[in-house]
Order: sequence, then C-alpha cells, then structure tokens
Amino acid sequence: MSFRRKDSGSVELEDGVSNPAFQDADVTDSPPDAPKEPDSVYTQVKPYAGMPKEVLLLYSSQARYRVPREILFWLTVSCTLALVAVTVTIIALSPPCLGWWQISPVYQVYPRSFKDSDGDGVGDLKGIKEKLDHFHNLNIKSIWISPFYRSPMKDFGYDVEDFRDVDPLFGTMEDFEELLAEMHKNGLKLIMDFIPNHSSDRHRWFNLSRIRDPVYEDYYVWADCNATKKPNNWVSIFGNSSWTYDEVRGQCYLHQFLKEQPDLNMRNPAVRKEIIDIIHFWLSKGVDGFRMDAVKHMLEATHLRDEPQVDPNKPPEEVTTEWDLFHDYTTSQVGLHNILQEFRAEMESYSREPGKYRFMVTESYDYEEVEKTMMYYGTPLVKESDFPFNFYLLDLPQNTSGLWAKHLVDLWMSNMPRGKWPNWVVGNHDKSRIASSVGKTYVRVINMLLLTLPGTPTTYYGEEIGMENINITADQVQDPFGKYNLSNSRDPQRSPMQWNGDMNAGFNNQTNVTWLPVHPDYKSVNVEVQKDSEGSTMFQYNFLNSLRQSELPFLRGWFCYVRANADVFSYLRELDGPAGPAAGADEHQPRQQRESLSEVRRPDRTRRGFGDPVLHLHSLSSQPLLGMLRL
Ligand code: GLC
Ligand code: MG
Repeated sequence: MSFRRKDSGSVELEDGVSNPAFQDADVTDSPPDAPKEPDSVYTQVKPYAGMPKEVLLLYSSQARYRVPREILFWLTVSCTLALVAVTVTIIALSPPCLGWWQISPVYQVYPRSFKDSDGDGVGDLKGIKEKLDHFHNLNIKSIWISPFYRSPMKDFGYDVEDFRDVDPLFGTMEDFEELLAEMHKNGLKLIMDFIPNHSSDRHRWFNLSRIRDPVYEDYYVWADCNATKKPNNWVSIFGNSSWTYDEVRGQCYLHQFLKEQPDLNMRNPAVRKEIIDIIHFWLSKGVDGFRMDAVKHMLEATHLRDEPQVDPNKPPEEVTTEWDLFHDYTTSQVGLHNILQEFRAEMESYSREPGKYRFMVTESYDYEEVEKTMMYYGTPLVKESDFPFNFYLLDLPQNTSGLWAKHLVDLWMSNMPRGKWPNWVVGNHDKSRIASSVGKTYVRVINMLLLTLPGTPTTYYGEEIGMENINITADQVQDPFGKYNLSNSRDPQRSPMQWNGDMNAGFNNQTNVTWLPVHPDYKSVNVEVQKDSEGSTMFQYNFLNSLRQSELPFLRGWFCYVRANADVFSYLRELDGPAGPAAGADEHQPRQQRESLSEVRRPDRTRRGFGDPVLHLHSLSSQPLLGMLRL
C-alpha cells in the first residue's frame, strides 16, 4: 500500500478508497466561503456607499482593485527612492563652496619691512594696521605675517624666545589684538608663522634643558660629543656642523639652522603637548591659520648615523653645506606626518563655527622629490595641510621658455593628489625677487601666470608693484646666512616696501633710518604711482586678481594645456558643461613681444555659440595679445 500527496495537500490512499472525511477543510482547493468569481453575487452587485467592512474587504482583495493599488504603492516608493538618490548625487557631485583661503591670494607681509610706524627703522604691527587699505585696494583677504614673536632676532624672528609674546620691536600684545580685530572688521584673515622645529637658545626651555632640569632635560636633541669631535657629519642649512657643544651640559645640541636655533625634540610627547598648547593660545585669540615653518626638519633619525655624501670623494672636513649631503636622516623622517596631523586635528576643533575655518600651509623645500611635498596634503581620510607651499615656480629663472614654464606647472598638477587644491609661489623672504632673477620684463607675465593658474596665488610684499632686489655690500649684511656667505644673503629681497616717492619710500618718515636700504627705483616703483596708472604692474595685478575672483572659470574652472613651445605657454580655464563660460590665458610671448604681453586691461566680453561669454585679455594698444585664445 502506498500513499500519494495530492497537489491540494490532502493525502490519498493510492490503491484504496479515498476517505472524504480525511480531507481537512484547510487544505481544500479553495476556501468554502471565498467568493467564486464567475458565480459570485459580488461580481454582479456594484460597490455602494455605506457597505459593511466585511463586504468592502471582499471587494478590495479582488485582483482588479488589488493590482492597481499595489502598482501605485510601489510607484510611490520607487519615486521617493529615486528622488533621494538624485538629491544625494547632486550634492555629492556639485563643487563644494570655496574657502577663504582658496578665493583670495595669500599676501606675505615681512613685518620688519612693511611699514614702520614709530620711526625706529624696523616695520611693526601698528604699521601693518595703518596699511590695511592696501589689501582692500588689491582685493586681497588673506594675510600671512612672518614671525613677530619675542626674539633675539638672530634669524629675524625665526628664533623664538617666547611663543606667547610679541617682540617689543614689533609692538605689544595689545597692538596685535588691535590689528587682528581691525583685520577681522575689514574681512581680512590673519595667518601666523608658526615654528615647531626650533626655538631660540634664549628660550626658557633651553636654559632649563642645559641644566638638565628633569622636566626639560629631553626638550632638545642632545648627544655626547666634545668640543672638537661632533656626533656625526650632519650640517646646518646655514652652513657648518649642525651640532654645537654646550659647556653647561657637557653635550652637543642639534640645530638644523643657526646655533642660536636649537632643534626641539619633537619625539618627546611633552614637547608636542607644549606646541599644541601654543597653537591653542593663538587660535583662541582668533588667528585664522598657520604657516608651518621648516616642517621637514621636525624629526631626525635617533641612530645618529652619518648622512651619505653627495660626492663620496670629498674630504669630510670640506662637507660643510646643505648640498654636500643626502639628508636621509635629518629630513622627512617617518612620524613627521603624524605630528602635523595631530596639529591639524587641534585646528579642526576651532574650525567648526561657520566662517571660522582655520587654515594650514606647510613649508618644505623638497626639490626634485615632489612626491614628498605632496604628502603634506594628507590622505583622503586624514587631513593635514590645506596645501603645502608650491615652490616650483621659483625655478622659472633657470630657463625662461614656455616649455620650462609648462614643465614646472605640470610638476604640480600631475603629482597633486586627486581632489586637492593647488597653489603657486613666485617669491618669499628666502628667495631672490623674481623681478631680479628672471628679469624685469617678466614681472607682469609672472603675475599673470600666478593669477590665472588654478589654485591659490601667494604674493610676497612688493611683487604687486614689481619691486626688485637691492644690492647689499658686505658691510651692510644683516642676514646671518649672508654673513656665512654673502651670496646667500636674503637681505636683497627684504628691503623696505615702496609706498610712495617720499622720504624712505614712505616706509617711515620720522627719521632717515631703515634697517635695510630702500631700493633706488622707489620714485617710479611705488604703490602711489602705480595705483591709478593703467598699464602699471599693480594696475594689472589688481585687474587680474579681480578677474580671478569674479570669473568662475578662473576661480574654479578646469585647466587644460593648449600650447607650449620655446616662446609660448598657453592654457585654458573652462567650467564644466557644454556651454559653460571659458577663459584663456597665455604666458611667455615670443621674445620680441614681451613688453606688450604684460600690459593687460579690461576684459572684452564677446559672445560665441549659444551666448556663453568668452574673456579676451587685451594689451593696452587694444591689440589682442599674441597667442590669445579665441574660443
Ligand atoms: C624657514 C624660514 C626661514 C628661516 C628658517 C629657519 O625656512 O622661511 O626664513 O630662516 O625657516 O627658521
Ligand atoms: Mg618700528
């Protein structure tokens, strides 16, 4: 005897007689009281108002009601989901709002040389406050001020005696607070120089470290040595051994710069904590950002091995300059980025309020190792600097061809991590002024390059008027680097700002003292003369800077190379979209055209295609610049 399961679920005796009593009501083909469509009474009766719930339910479960209802339901769900997805995609794809540090150029003030308010020959904070109009006139909002901390001034403020005080030469803390308040009132941001690598040898920490105070004993990098035998062959950036014997402690201390600038031991958590406390100190005063000085020097290898010589045959006693060694153990050591990321995290905690973003830029000259510089951008998950300074355009003087300019630009653009923001530097207090190194005729075109490339331009004071280096004789040298070797002197690019044709170029007018001589060309190269003179370097700077901030393609457009050869480097800035506005800029005109190329004035708005605007930069003679992109 066998059993067979019926489709309905009832069980049937295969060879026997089926027993109807055995069939369960639940497993019959259809429930006894379900409406049977063909002969159901409900198919003939129309739904009526006030029908009882039970009847209504019977109707509503019929396919002709249920199916459209379910279609409508799923349609609503999928439309809602699609709407959410589209919104999220639009938000994700739309370009973020630009920060203040992206919109305005960063203008570097070297405080000793900007404006002297009290006639002692050295610029000061009150002087900067007197000149805030200059930034307003240039449409510049971000001001980086080189150090004004209390300092013995061996390296003009980069040797800090007290990280929480203002040097009397520059003014008082009150002067600083007034300057900051006035800047903020005028919509300006203040970026401070910050020096985490070293302090002055007059800093309290160093004095306590020398006497082996238990708290401060390891605040600096000490090693056993004697007055003649140094721990290794490491050399200072300013020349000679980077170790100095300290008689008080009977050991050598490390200084990657002057012997008056002992390196802090950043491997010591207590030192890092001190530095972070100082960051807090200035952020809570309201400063808007930091330029982190000499960051690649923050850590050194603890094994203290000799660095390899560039020329292995050079006698060791002749190994005295930065260029004689490969800096495998004194720069870019593992752990460096963690320290900067730690600083950054502290700064982020002050960046949360709208409009209060705190900006960080790092200074690291990595020369041909551009990938090392790029690491300061951080990783997609961990923030570091907003950008590391891009010093590659400082190499423009090596070869004034369009191809070389393109190469230098491309070095940054093709190595920069995805989604990051570029920047360009053509001068600072450490490098010869471009007007002197590349040549005066290039001043305007270099400003043009600076202001039309994608990213944030940095302008060293005086570049907007085309200031040149001064000549310095051996007896005039102020810079310690120049005292080591006159040709290294950074004094030539630090001469007083040329405001007008009056005494001392308007830098000060009380006395005839200026800490460095004023450039003799100040009668014609000054702010007052150039302000309203069409065709002047400053007029052009102002025009291009306004253009950069008002024309979206310049501010945030794509960047494409168009042409590069010995004479021309041209590129395109264009916004996304089929008919987006476009703008073109050309650099390095054929040699005979150099003068005219730099004379740029009003944009000539013409129209093309479907009405999208095109910008042409015209020369003063109203002739389009040669090589101008006609889009
Ligand atoms: C940076 C500064 C430079 C200074 C050095 C040591 O490179 O730009 O002026 O001498 O650090 O602090
Ligand atoms: Mg002064």
